[in-house]
Amino acid sequence: MKKLLSLLTCLIFIIQMQAQQLPKVIILATGGTIAGVGTSSTSAGYTAGKIPIDDLIGAIPAVKKLANITGEQISSIGSQDMTIDIWKKLAVRINQIYANHEANAVVITHGTDTQEETAYFLDLVVPSDMPVVLTGSMRSSTAISADGPKNLYDAITVAIDPKTKGRGVLVSFNEGIFDAREVMKMSTSFTNAFGSPNTGAVGHAFDSKVEYYSKAEREVNTTFKITADTKLPVVDIVYMYAGAPAANIDDMIARKVDGIVIAGVGNGNFNTAYMDAVKRAVAAGIIVCRASRAPSGRVVLHDEINDDELGTIVSDDLTPQKARIMLMLGLTQTKDKAQLQKYFFQY
Ligand code: DGL
Repeated sequence: MKKLLSLLTCLIFIIQMQAQQLPKVIILATGGTIAGVGTSSTSAGYTAGKIPIDDLIGAIPAVKKLANITGEQISSIGSQDMTIDIWKKLAVRINQIYANHEANAVVITHGTDTQEETAYFLDLVVPSDMPVVLTGSMRSSTAISADGPKNLYDAITVAIDPKTKGRGVLVSFNEGIFDAREVMKMSTSFTNAFGSPNTGAVGHAFDSKVEYYSKAEREVNTTFKITADTKLPVVDIVYMYAGAPAANIDDMIARKVDGIVIAGVGNGNFNTAYMDAVKRAVAAGIIVCRASRAPSGRVVLHDEINDDELGTIVSDDLTPQKARIMLMLGLTQTKDKAQLQKYFFQY
């Protein structure tokens, strides 16, 4: 009996020691389909953000061998309802985790609709050597072949892998690993929902292993800082299309926005109606950034439009939704167009 007891004590000690050696991961849950509950296992219908993070973690017991994991419920929304306030809450919490050495890595569960925006915002405001990996799912947790558990498992393997440190914020989805600056949602329904049209995936997570094949070129540590009290400037996006009326831009001028991003056609082009409205916006002190609705390539200065003459800046290869984030954060530092343009070429 004594031998059995001492054997058990040794076993418990070894398990405790092993657990202490595992990396610590904090999962910040925001909702999304990964936490969604479907109306049936076969229908596409579901309600996002219903399952608490502890249940999502409990659904993948294998992660207990990878890391010591705790979950925090930041919000429980479909990510189409994502807000700047939740972005700030995530940024402040991650910076706190980093400053207080509370964990080795952070994973964020998030709806797919705006996941690229949250990833990019955080990429610009949290230290790059804090591994932060976002993931989600395209099928709800109650659907046949739900993709959430595997995506969450992979995201944790990516977050704790030593090669991830210093890469900035990443999205791990359907075994692909994507840089926050380059990633975008490419499909409304396929499980390989994300892609990076300009650069491709930076790596793969498969069979509990992580391999990287490229590294982001842009600086990953910026001058942008976020606190709970930061008031972000108002920057809105206007789509360009055949026959688009000037009113689309004049309405924003009337609302006194701080910046306008134009999702232009081709190389950030737009019609004469928009051209006249842009002149009015610039005269009103609004910063106007030319981006493109095309999913790849970049908008260059002084191509078909002379930006110096018009008083506009360009998004480089950022999509309109990410150019908005860059311009919002840039405007917390300056209204100087040359400096704002520099941010787009630097980060
Ligand atoms: N309801 C949308 C969202 O939460 C899409 C579903 C999802 O993939 O998470 O982003």
